[in-house]
Amino acid sequence: MGLITTAIADEVMQLEADYLLQNYGRYPLVLERGDGPWLWDVAGNRYLDFIAGIGVNALGHAHPRIVKIIDEQTRLLVHTSNLYYHQYQGPLARKLSEVSGLQRSFFTNSGTESMEGALKMIRSHGRKISPEKFEIISLENSFHGRTLGALSITGQPKYRKDFEPLLPGIRFIHANNFEELEAAFSERTAGIVVEWIQGEGGIYPIQDAWAFKVRELADRYNALLVFDEIQCGVGRPGTYFGYQLADPAVMPDIMVAAKPLACGMPLGVITANEKAAAAIAPGMHGSTFGGNALACRVAIEFFDILDGLLPRMRRVGDYFRSGLRELASRHAFIREVRGYGLMVGVELDIPGKQIVLDAMNEGLLLNCTHDTVLRFLPPYIITESEVDRALGTLETVFARI
Ligand SMILES: Cc1ncc(COP(=O)(O)O)c(C=O)c1O
Repeated sequence: MGLITTAIADEVMQLEADYLLQNYGRYPLVLERGDGPWLWDVAGNRYLDFIAGIGVNALGHAHPRIVKIIDEQTRLLVHTSNLYYHQYQGPLARKLSEVSGLQRSFFTNSGTESMEGALKMIRSHGRKISPEKFEIISLENSFHGRTLGALSITGQPKYRKDFEPLLPGIRFIHANNFEELEAAFSERTAGIVVEWIQGEGGIYPIQDAWAFKVRELADRYNALLVFDEIQCGVGRPGTYFGYQLADPAVMPDIMVAAKPLACGMPLGVITANEKAAAAIAPGMHGSTFGGNALACRVAIEFFDILDGLLPRMRRVGDYFRSGLRELASRHAFIREVRGYGLMVGVELDIPGKQIVLDAMNEGLLLNCTHDTVLRFLPPYIITESEVDRALGTLETVFARI
């Protein structure tokens, strides 16, 4: 398959070039429709989607139950503002409480908005104890979003450098380093933010033993532990959340999630235990769009489907990783295969960008993060036979290198 540019695609790209901020480096692909794990471009070419809108399209495209719910709910009620109640925030928050082990939720529209709210909770928690207690520990190589607060705790200088000075009082340490962790904590620490599996950073999981230590130190210094589950949570790792991969689970004070929560409707959440939730009193936080009736109803339907999908996701994820390891045994430029469930990274000795373009030409969508890590975030509905097809395409692409 070749990438056929059509008059429609050319026009779309030209309009964007003329009228959009030039912040995105998009692939030259104009998508028109999807069905399950498949996408079609405007020229009618078909692609197997192993990136799912960067981990958003959890049930693939046009899932019949999601289509039905969106259709029904848009005819009834889309948005009320948070001046009034609607029927779906409460049941969704109860479900989040059941699956997360935490108590209270606040709904947002995106990952970075969830992170901002969590940062405010950390600050407010610290301030109640002492004006000096405002430091936040975060990890090198982390990614937490593009707003100024989230950027302040993002441990990758390339995202931060053009916007400095950012928030004061942020201490960066390396994941899984016990000495740096102990040295960073003090009575000034109000919170620590950790991705269980660094996503943009290249699919790097933290170690259970290190996470247990994080919990212990957060308790010792009365700091809030926040897990950023925006990319690695809500089913993606084969458990509801990354922190449930440890045995026993390492409970955070706050969990933030977004991406797959409403299968493409913009919805994020902050879910907190009672201690962290007490940091926000009436009037201290809010969101006009956050948690509208449509997005929340879709998320309830999604969880109803997800409950039955998790075992299969673990099985298909293992199958995918073992196929990738088999490819690694035959291609010396593959350094490592990492991940859990359907969050998979393949670290290369060579840049990944051309591989992504070649795979796209062959009808497989993935992306590359950190220059040398191929990242796969397929929809949760993916099957072994679709994995076989993706592996076959990768074999074709790798064989040319
Ligand atoms: C771990 C993590 N945190 C936060 C964000 C920001 O989320 P959003 O792009 O929805 O603002 C992302 C997005 O990729 C992410 O992967």
